[in-house]
Amino acid sequence: MKIEELICLGNKSLHKDQVKLLLGTLLNLNPLEINLHLNDYVEEEIVKKYQDLLECLKKGEPLQYALKNVNFYGFDFYVDKRVLIPRFETEELVYNTDLYIKKYFSSNSKVLDLGTGTGCIGITLKKLNPNLDITLSDISKDALDVALINKEKLDVDVEIKESDLFSNINSKFDILISNPPYVAIDDEIDDLVKNNEPSIALYSDNNGLSYYERILATCEKYLNEKYLIAFEIGFSLQEEVLKLINKYLKDVKVITKKDMALKDRMIFIFKNIDLSE
Ligand SMILES: C[S@@+](CC[C@H](N)C(=O)[O-])C[C@H]1O[C@@H](n2cnc3c(N)ncnc32)[C@H](O)[C@@H]1O
Repeated sequence: MKIEELICLGNKSLHKDQVKLLLGTLLNLNPLEINLHLNDYVEEEIVKKYQDLLECLKKGEPLQYALKNVNFYGFDFYVDKRVLIPRFETEELVYNTDLYIKKYFSSNSKVLDLGTGTGCIGITLKKLNPNLDITLSDISKDALDVALINKEKLDVDVEIKESDLFSNINSKFDILISNPPYVAIDDEIDDLVKNNEPSIALYSDNNGLSYYERILATCEKYLNEKYLIAFEIGFSLQEEVLKLINKYLKDVKVITKKDMALKDRMIFIFKNIDLSE
């Protein structure tokens, strides 16, 4: 079949952008290149794979799960329904944390990525700073299996640990980074997310605040005197998370940042760091 015919086939059931993304991934072409090759014939094996993926997508499976791939910060991560699909907002958390690490910490600092899922946060930080000593932890064995696949796929030396928050953590870190579950039980969320992504990666009690509170209440035992905590937050949670920081941490400085959609999305907590440097 020709590329043009495959596009027509896909357009019957999917949005045209999804069709191009899917074909582009299978053919290793960007959308512009696809338009320049509309009359090219596609190998039978790829046509079959395309048809199988279309079926998965028609059933309501997210494109990334169907492709078993997500591009995060320029790196290709394996992803399947055992883990949350990494989001663009989280790339912004990594981008800002990387800047702070480079500015305020030594290159061999210790980093804990708490609730690692695919491992996208910790593995990307390791790619950007190869000397960091990074631990990826999660309560979900399924998630850790996926993180291990990504550790090998992206060829990084990181430690992987099963732990209910800090229950199995027995050393101290310079940087704690986390995108914990923060969807309140009664929040309205997209059906595609609700029906496909693991609940353990999404939902949090106490109006989305319970993980922030549990982490903030005990984190200092697992952090050095000088530290950075980098949180992704639900956009409506900033005020409440700031109250929790006030309740549990003393003498810290806090910077909040919005994401590209101008939603409150990140909180950075600094202890014993001179931000004027
Ligand atoms: C919102 S997902 C984030 C995944 C990944 N870090 C990312 O940003 O794409 C939250 C992660 O926290 C994990 N998690 C949930 N409860 C946990 C707990 N008590 N201790 C450690 N990890 C937990 C989930 O399994 C999930 O992988």
